[in-house]
Amino acid sequence: MKSFTGVRGMGRGEIERLVTEACEYRDALDSGDLIDRSLEGRCVANLFFEPSTRTRLSFDLATQRLGGHVLTFFPETSSSLKGESLHDTVLTVAAIGADVLVVRHKEEGVPEKVGEWTGLPVINAGDGTNEHPTQALLDLVTLKRRFGSLPGLRVGIVGDIAHSRVAGSLIHAMGPLGIELVLVGPGEWLPSETSVALSHDLDATIPHLDVVYLLRVQTERGGVIDDDYVARFRMDAKRASELSEDSVIMHPGPINRGVELTDEVADSPRSLITEQVRNGVPTRMAVLRRLAADRR
Ligand code: CP
Repeated sequence: MKSFTGVRGMGRGEIERLVTEACEYRDALDSGDLIDRSLEGRCVANLFFEPSTRTRLSFDLATQRLGGHVLTFFPETSSSLKGESLHDTVLTVAAIGADVLVVRHKEEGVPEKVGEWTGLPVINAGDGTNEHPTQALLDLVTLKRRFGSLPGLRVGIVGDIAHSRVAGSLIHAMGPLGIELVLVGPGEWLPSETSVALSHDLDATIPHLDVVYLLRVQTERGGVIDDDYVARFRMDAKRASELSEDSVIMHPGPINRGVELTDEVADSPRSLITEQVRNGVPTRMAVLRRLAADRR
């Protein structure tokens, strides 16, 4: 694997291998038995041109856990403010000594461009409404650890699908793994051309789901929160009571409490939201190790 810019086009075997490796890292981190210096002497630069808490910090820690160095770029205090272009910025970071670039940007396709400009391995940490592939992988890790097996799981992705790069990656990741997927939301947020099942009716869908995967309403990309949305699609205690006993709630974060879900649901034993965050570091370790190994 030269770069990791998307799940689209990846084969089942490759996705499964990364999930397995991430699960092994999670076990090693939990037991305190981790001895892995795969990134010894390597430098990973985090280039986040959009805000992030989970993704950036977990790439930082994943790099450090593998013995690598972290370079963190903050656009709001960088020479971007003096007019330096994106192209010149990434060439500068490469010249300083980065070996791998982790890129988040509001425009689709920027991670691929950065790879072409620098010749370095690039990990997509979210590009516009296109993909957020390490989020999808850590979600699969979370499901694998919870359910043991992925094929046949019934997952409903609920909400602002149109603006969600998380949904973009999940759709491409779940199909090859045999996960049954339904996209649930208002008509204007559902894709017009897709082979995936669609529903406008969360209440009718809930009893058939093992996983309710709620998406943040992306107001920064045009998503609008209104009373009708909240009434029809917010996961509250009443809706949660219609789920089967083992069903779970997921959300990539950050959550809008009271919009996509209520506090009771977010903080309930069904919620895997904190577990998803925990799986961010081992998942990013698996991806970073793969890039480092394939570069030798
Ligand atoms: N899920 C996710 O990408 O969160 P951050 O924006 O905090 O990185």
